[in-house]
Amino acid sequence: GENINKAIEALQSGRMILLFDMEGREAETDFTIPAKAVTPSDVRWMRKDAGGLICVALDPHASEKLGLPFMADILREAGQSGNSLGNIVEKGGDLKYDSRSSFSIWVNHRDTRTGIPDNDRALTINKLGEIVDRALDGEIPDFGKEFRTPGHVATLRAARRLVHERMGQTELSIALARIAGITPAMVVCEMLDDNTGRALSKEDAIKYGKDKDLVFVEGEEVVKAYNTWLGSG
Ligand code: 5RP
Ligand code: CA
Repeated sequence: GENINKAIEALQSGRMILLFDMEGREAETDFTIPAKAVTPSDVRWMRKDAGGLICVALDPHASEKLGLPFMADILREAGQSGNSLGNIVEKGGDLKYDSRSSFSIWVNHRDTRTGIPDNDRALTINKLGEIVDRALDGEIPDFGKEFRTPGHVATLRAARRLVHERMGQTELSIALARIAGITPAMVVCEMLDDNTGRALSKEDAIKYGKDKDLVFVEGEEVVKAYNTWLGSG
């Protein structure tokens, strides 16, 4: 469709789009922008106008090469030595909207100071984009040489089969990056409603997109485009 093509063009130009997952899942809209294109003022924009958690979704193959496991797996393993972590970690049925979260570890680039100001987070995010490129180019980058954890940017690890396995913005944004031919490291941040504190309604997210000239896309459109892209590749 024309709308999804506009979204792909925007991402190819390093511009923000709005990405809704679907009714019946979270039914949330995330600000979504390529990691390599993010500036400190984009970070400010996300925290002020979106208001959710600023995360970077990462391609599954790159995550593997960089040694970024799911946080739940790290905690499950750590919990085996008899501490409380094994009880705290998410279990099947815990989440109301999916079978598991996509969280990996929280990181800061080693050149940041505290890690939280807009310029620090933008640096961490840009560098995540660069290291994903290098990992997918066949290099085996030393992640720990460049980044430390704990940090202030959440990384999300996309499911191996992307939208065929999981329908979160994690997978939807990486599927879009693949179609667009850009680095599969994508910043996502949920849009919250300043009046109610809840997720911004789909209707209001669409309205925001119209006001700010941002393309609004839905999970269903992404899946369709991704399947077409897979079929033509
Ligand atoms: C991190 C989240 C968000 O929902 C984000 O959109 C990614 O998660 P998912 O892929 O599960 O939608 O949990 O703030
Ligand atoms: Ca989400």
